[in-house]
Amino acid sequence: MSYKTVLITGGAGFIGSHVVRLFVKKYPRTKIINYDSLTYAGNLNNLKDIQDKKNYFFERGDITDYKRVKDVFIKYNIDAVIHLAAESHVDRSIEDPFAFAKTNVLGTLTLLQVAKDFWGCSLSNKDIISKNHRFYHISTDEVYGSLKLDKSLFVEGSKYDPHSPYSASKASSDHFVRAFHDTFGLPVVVTNCSNNYGPYQFPEKLIPLVIYNIENKKPLPIYGKGLNVRDWLFVEDHAKAIDLVFYKGKISHTYNIGGFNEWRNIDLVKLIIKIVDKKLGRKKGESNKLITYVADRAGHDMRYAIDSTKIRKELGWKPEFTFEEGIEKTIDWYLANKEWVKDVTSGEYKKYYKKMYSNRK
Ligand code: NAD
Ligand code: TYD
Repeated sequence: MSYKTVLITGGAGFIGSHVVRLFVKKYPRTKIINYDSLTYAGNLNNLKDIQDKKNYFFERGDITDYKRVKDVFIKYNIDAVIHLAAESHVDRSIEDPFAFAKTNVLGTLTLLQVAKDFWGCSLSNKDIISKNHRFYHISTDEVYGSLKLDKSLFVEGSKYDPHSPYSASKASSDHFVRAFHDTFGLPVVVTNCSNNYGPYQFPEKLIPLVIYNIENKKPLPIYGKGLNVRDWLFVEDHAKAIDLVFYKGKISHTYNIGGFNEWRNIDLVKLIIKIVDKKLGRKKGESNKLITYVADRAGHDMRYAIDSTKIRKELGWKPEFTFEEGIEKTIDWYLANKEWVKDVTSGEYKKYYKKMYSNRK
């Protein structure tokens, strides 16, 4: 099965830009339409290398704008959607939960409604529609809540138990996606992935923030005691999983994506210090002194860890990058792309960052 036109929302963001790049290069006969409103997290410079390709199109617009989304569906005769656009940072969701409800819940609902109307979905014709169309919703493992510090893992059937406004908004959007399948026959598929890292991630998230601050000898803020655990996946491996699920995943199914790669925050930060110090020719462990314990994040989930057995067994996916390779590639990219970091961290972000950390003192 191949689609003529695929709408990718949030394609100017971190993961979205990797997905757009992969699809534009791998499927030259498919038109890839990147639909993005370019919030602080969206940056067209992330796609400079493919922006002139014949099968790439950019449309600036908000996913909450029904008319604009519908016009784009009509203009390109959209066959399928990969939906990544979202507000994605937990700390921002604590500052401004409404922005998260608006984009993540109402924006997703708007896209679902346009896709359903445009494709003419109903329960009676769902088998025919699912042959030609697909709505793929990208979600997060954070909807499952928090694990204890034991060996438990999130599986596809784990109970939803979100704790932050971000994860609550993503959980809500997942429910709407499944409801549109059950009620209107929309051909949906959902994936829930663990924490991503890699080039083009906005430096408000832990890994790029720490690389940037080590390089610039700034404090490395560690929330609480630094004992929280996250399961890290290299972004290019996520993009490849998205490609696989988009074409081979079963309609109405959910697939968990993760690398079986758990790190305590403090251990991860110390590893990054070790690598960056070495690359910058600094003394071993010199930047350990930058570690600064700060007040914990409200509602901070203790541990996330994904069981990705289903996608591995059913679709044959596995990460291609080891963590050592991925983190090295990521650090090299940030050290070599100082201009990109400078550009995205100027203006609005600086104000936000200052305010957040002055609140925490
Ligand atoms: P990001 O914040 O880097 O990018 C989000 C993109 O969406 C930006 O380009 C932004 O301009 C765009 N956007 C935001 N609001 C919009 C709106 N109202 N209309 C149109 N465009 C809008 O996010 P990311 O880290 O690349 O995450 C992408 C998706 O993957 C999200 O749905 C997120 O929940 C999910 N996810 C992320 C991670 C992770 O570790 N980053 C892990 C699992 C799942
Ligand atoms: P983050 O990258 O924001 O991803 P998420 O909250 O979606 O997992 O944070 C990863 C972990 O690092 C999380 O436990 C919070 C912690 N953290 C810090 O300790 N300091 C920081 O400055 C940031 C941004 C995160």
